[in-house]
Amino acid sequence: MVLPHSMPLVPLPVSVIVGDGRMPLSQTARIVGDSAVAAHLIVAIARRSGIRLAHSSDATGEILLRIDAEAAAPEGYTLTVADSVEIVGGDEAGLFYGVQTLLQLLREDDDGWAFLRAEITDAPRFARRGVMLDVTRHFFSVDEVKKFIDSTSALKFNHLHLHLSDDQGWRIHIDSWPKLTELASSTASLGAPGGFYSKDDYREIVAYAAEHHMLVIPEIDLPGHTHAIGVAYPELVEDPVMNDSLLAESERLGQPLPVAGEPYLGWGVGHSSVRIHEERTYDFVRDVVRELAELTPGPYIHIGGDESLGTPQADFDLFVERATAIVVDEGKIPLAWHEVGAAKDIAEGTVGQYWGKTTPEGTHAAEAAHFVERGGSLIMSAADVAYLDMKYTADYPLGLTWAAIIDVRAAYEWEPTEVLDVPDTAILGVEAPLWSETTRTIDEVERLVFPRAAAQAEVAWSPRTAPERAWESFRVRLGSMAPLWKAEHVDFHPADEIPWSTR
Ligand code: ACM
Repeated sequence: MVLPHSMPLVPLPVSVIVGDGRMPLSQTARIVGDSAVAAHLIVAIARRSGIRLAHSSDATGEILLRIDAEAAAPEGYTLTVADSVEIVGGDEAGLFYGVQTLLQLLREDDDGWAFLRAEITDAPRFARRGVMLDVTRHFFSVDEVKKFIDSTSALKFNHLHLHLSDDQGWRIHIDSWPKLTELASSTASLGAPGGFYSKDDYREIVAYAAEHHMLVIPEIDLPGHTHAIGVAYPELVEDPVMNDSLLAESERLGQPLPVAGEPYLGWGVGHSSVRIHEERTYDFVRDVVRELAELTPGPYIHIGGDESLGTPQADFDLFVERATAIVVDEGKIPLAWHEVGAAKDIAEGTVGQYWGKTTPEGTHAAEAAHFVERGGSLIMSAADVAYLDMKYTADYPLGLTWAAIIDVRAAYEWEPTEVLDVPDTAILGVEAPLWSETTRTIDEVERLVFPRAAAQAEVAWSPRTAPERAWESFRVRLGSMAPLWKAEHVDFHPADEIPWSTR
């Protein structure tokens, strides 16, 4: 029997049959299964409960982990908790996700630690479930990014988009253009310290993400959001172009205006552009894309394309047509913000990232649809529901408000296939971005990301319709994540809408 609000699980699985009572966690239980997932489970149970289970040296034990491609879909799993636990993954990722679900079933009550009994069959709705971290407006260390991977992969996100360059700084070392990190990485928003990833740092992030079944998508934002490039290589960029909104916002916030060749510390957008008619610009793009492609096991390189307000439209179109072709030449699939769909001849198969509103404004929907006309597909990041950097309430101390004020319910109640007039099959999935203008520390990042990332995880993973795929169920299930997040030191915002549980 499937009961409303019956199980403390987020995202909601495809099918849950609630079992009878609990299976006590015995100190002597052993885990069978030789994959890295077993080691992950042992550590996670120990962190939660203080009980450190052993890995079985023979084939017998109380917690069985195995992979069987016949038994579950890719990334899917079956999980049975009765008098023992069995998780069967359709592949290694499915086993990892089954373990995340098991960790949500691990609960403490007056009798001690136990797994809730259940029989679960699960697989994702969308193949692409992403989060984005902006490491330019504020920089986050390798260890901080790893913590972000820990907490988001536990919600079954499988892509991490890193926004690696913007007006405020360049954050990844490029051997062929070394001044980018030498001269344009040391500052961040409003005088905060900057930083950058060496190639070894970046490889460490990519490898750690892979262990957590996440693919890293690197983004170099072009042709706008490029002031920092000009701090290192002035000959690649145009002089800053002031727009009315930049002038008004900079004055309102008391922030400096951009000055050519000097680090930019404000948050304003739309003032920078690379030089579109210089061949050296394309040498630069090719070198950067090639070096990023070498570091990237996944299929995508993101070339940005948003808010290039200082670039004339014809120049913008020419640039993004060439830049998307360069990514294809270097063996990767180009990904770009939806504005890039304004250009007629973008490379075939380019994937668009829609960041307009759930009711599209102006040309946004047509731009997004053009990716599909060119044989590509779309990732949905509707800014008024999926942007993690918007405030929860008007007086919330962190975040911005330009797209919307997004409480947890608003983050949850949207449908990614209903925003644009494109076939459902053109929607690859969902990505929730965290822009870091107002977040100086990873704890502040977490307070904006959690709990709303869990809402996006459910939108991306769970079946579109199911009795429990509804706010009244979600808010109770979400409340049950509190003890897990506390154990993992995830600094979530305890929003009033949610009945947070203590164990
Ligand atoms: C964006 O928020 N400028 C993609």
